[in-house]
Amino acid sequence: MYFVHLTSYINRGASSKCATFALMPVSPQSFFTTQLLAWYKPTDRPMPWKAERDAYKVWLSEIILQQTRVEQGLPYYLKFTEAFPTVQHLATAPADQVMKLWQGLGYYSRARNLHAAAQYIHTELGGSFPNNYEALLKLKGVGEYTAAAIASFAFDELRAVLDGNVYRVLARYFGVDTPIDSPAAKKQFGQLANELIPAAQPGLYNQAIMDFGATLCKPAQPLCNTCPLAAECIAKAQNLQDKLPIKAGKIKQRERFFHYIIFNAGGNILVEQRTGKDIWQELYQFPMLEYTELLAPDTHEVADFIGQFAPSDWRITAAKGPYTQKLTHQKINAWFIEVEANGKLNAPEPSYKLTERQNLNIFAFPKIIDCYLQDNRLYLSLT
Ligand code: ADE
Repeated sequence: MYFVHLTSYINRGASSKCATFALMPVSPQSFFTTQLLAWYKPTDRPMPWKAERDAYKVWLSEIILQQTRVEQGLPYYLKFTEAFPTVQHLATAPADQVMKLWQGLGYYSRARNLHAAAQYIHTELGGSFPNNYEALLKLKGVGEYTAAAIASFAFDELRAVLDGNVYRVLARYFGVDTPIDSPAAKKQFGQLANELIPAAQPGLYNQAIMDFGATLCKPAQPLCNTCPLAAECIAKAQNLQDKLPIKAGKIKQRERFFHYIIFNAGGNILVEQRTGKDIWQELYQFPMLEYTELLAPDTHEVADFIGQFAPSDWRITAAKGPYTQKLTHQKINAWFIEVEANGKLNAPEPSYKLTERQNLNIFAFPKIIDCYLQDNRLYLSLT
């Protein structure tokens, strides 16, 4: 394979499809940039945050879009901007309201960081939203990609975004075979991205390359036949579209086994808030036994666990599952074991809350619990 290892110079000449290269600097008026900007029509893929200049709203959209597809993120953006039209509204909202609005979007640390950052802006910065890349980086949950996106969209700062979409577009077009999950990749692709971004229109360029990666230079079945960059694309010339970009290591998945106990004590249900350094921090759940495998509901391990909450007079009325949910690094398997308990439960506040069934919808639950509740019509989900 004839891949190019890039320095800050890239061959874009007529011999670019061969293994020998004359080195030429990428200029701001490169074929790549010119064609990309000519291709981009902001109206082709309308999104409410496009052309938005309020940095607060741009920030909201970018946090929501981290690890999330535009179609999935859009209703959350609309809900958040309606509930919290300014950073002050978000900063002063109760944490449970923020978490509830985020329910279903996943990666809940984003919601916690969003809230913490809003509070920091409100109390430490007197309510003024940070207005440059370096200051944006100080916000919890804002990394280089998000800071570059906000700084370029809201403040016209010359900062190129670099994410999976951008890696893919650049790796294919320039024929770069450096694994994108290697330490060298960030520097190499970063240098290239910074050479391509035009000083006059950094925001437009960043939005264009995001949309180009999402709609045309897609991971599978890219639309090379209608691609405005095809004439100079190394992957197209060498038929390497499905080989590039290269990823070195596969993520190992950890499998976990949860046993949720739905205690029904005289019509009230017992819930608890998740604390500790683990997935779904601050979300609610039912008392849960984690084990190294999925246990049958009638095992003594499950009975011992139930017995900690209901020392006497309880019975299992149903067991639903197993349900599964895939996260990036984990696969969750869960049983939902329904228990009727008489007498007072041993479940002290504030960790645990006994709540009426019809009030379950005020709590933010992980998706796997939400699915169980919806399947069993245990609440009228608001999301
Ligand atoms: N992904 C992250 N930010 C985005 C944006 N502004 N537009 C489309 N997709 C995105």
